Amino acid sequence: MRTPLIAGNWKMNKTHLDAIHFLGQLGHELGDHDHGKVEVAVCPPFTALRSVQTNIEDRRQSFRLGAQDMHWEAEGAFTGEVSPLMLKALKVGYVILGHSERRQHFGETDESVNKKVKAAFAHDLVPIMCCGETEGEHEANETEAKVERQVREGLDGVKPDDARNLVVAYEPIWAIGTGKTATPDDAQRVCGLIRKVLGNLYDQNIADEVRIQYGGSVKSGNTEALTSQPDIDGALVGGASLEAAEFAAIVRATKVKG
Ligand code: 13P
Repeated sequence: MRTPLIAGNWKMNKTHLDAIHFLGQLGHELGDHDHGKVEVAVCPPFTALRSVQTNIEDRRQSFRLGAQDMHWEAEGAFTGEVSPLMLKALKVGYVILGHSERRQHFGETDESVNKKVKAAFAHDLVPIMCCGETEGEHEANETEAKVERQVREGLDGVKPDDARNLVVAYEPIWAIGTGKTATPDDAQRVCGLIRKVLGNLYDQNIADEVRIQYGGSVKSGNTEALTSQPDIDGALVGGASLEAAEFAAIVRATKVKG
């Protein structure tokens, strides 16, 4: 059985002070939540990681910590970058890699995503590897080809024992921040395809262990329908993860299968 993962991608929102305030609220909202059933992660900006880490420890919360990107090198002359070693030292567990906003605005490619995925595994971090098609690709029926290419190239050279720990996030770009969500059936079709590609790249046992999230205008009202789909194991949540009550409602609405 795969434990669903609900991860909040805060993007470029919240100072470290806002983050501390948010964690207090989220702890209050999710006081009775069984964290063994649905895993909850927050992915703040780099500047808030340390505050979130110490807050989670001090309050003995079971939220997991994620980062939104990283460089693939452990250290060196890369001004402005953050390394896997630095994230590991902050007890970061997850790192979002290849988000469409990084691909669109900051030149991320399947090749750089692949380097980062391998570096994450080498440092014991779990990548949340993002893929998804644009509106034009969606309308031209190119979704499957695009997503398959992103998954194959992102995982090039990744060993089977690492791959089983992977998280893939399917985020149709036209659904991000737009209020338009893929229908549960459409999201399932693509997430099912991703699992099939993983089965071809590795084997069915490994493919069955990988968690596949849906992302794109997820809110408490559509979470249950999306996460009830057989190949959708949680959500990567943007806008709706910024408000504690709504994020908690998403966690509570998540379907636990199996
Ligand atoms: P929204 O939930 O705001 O559509 O963002 C989705 C996303 O990009 C999460 O990574």
